[in-house]
Amino acid sequence: MIIAVDGPTASGKGTIAKALARHFGLPHLDTGLLYRAVGYQVALYGGDPNDPSEALSATNFPNELLGHPDLRSEATGGLASRVSVHPGVRRALLQRQQAFAGQPGGAVLDGRDIGTVIAPNADAKLFVTASVEARAKRRWQEMRDRGESHTLLEIEDDLRRRDERDQNRETAPLTVAPDAFVLDTTALDKDASIAAAIDAVLEAK
Ligand code: C5P
Repeated sequence: MIIAVDGPTASGKGTIAKALARHFGLPHLDTGLLYRAVGYQVALYGGDPNDPSEALSATNFPNELLGHPDLRSEATGGLASRVSVHPGVRRALLQRQQAFAGQPGGAVLDGRDIGTVIAPNADAKLFVTASVEARAKRRWQEMRDRGESHTLLEIEDDLRRRDERDQNRETAPLTVAPDAFVLDTTALDKDASIAAAIDAVLEAK
């Protein structure tokens, strides 16, 4: 069974994808981490994330980089959103994601284009969303717990910019697949979101 979980930044899709993987006993891939690794690697060598060929050469990042704690920072998220607009970068990461999705038994993948591009034949597709205010508040709390200090307003601005880039890029923009179940978590806590996601997958199967 392949489960595709898409949605904007800080919608709760990562938490939901992890919980679905645990519930259904499937391996999980956070595909945002791949774009984060590319963005991080470009910056590490003083490159420009907006330059398609510099970004492309960073797609051969070492696997160990995926475990690096700096990949989770807001700064790296911004770099990821820049490198992810380049069609060459998306192509280079496509096979890796499709190989993961094709494992015997299936997998859960979360990202922006899983249900639309990476696994259009997924057995269950979820589009997880929430208001920008709710997402900013969650991100602010997460960052405060990690010791990163940003104001709520800064985070909200950053989310809007990233939504805009993700929705308006030419290659694989963030869109809702026609056969996806839209799960709005604005008014749901973590447990209620997970329960709703499990129900949606069971319905879709
Ligand atoms: O989900 P996460 O915040 O880790 O993703 C970082 C950035 O990577 C996103 O803002 C998005 O631009 C990009 N991304 C993407 N396609 C995916 C996953 C992430 O374009 N499948």
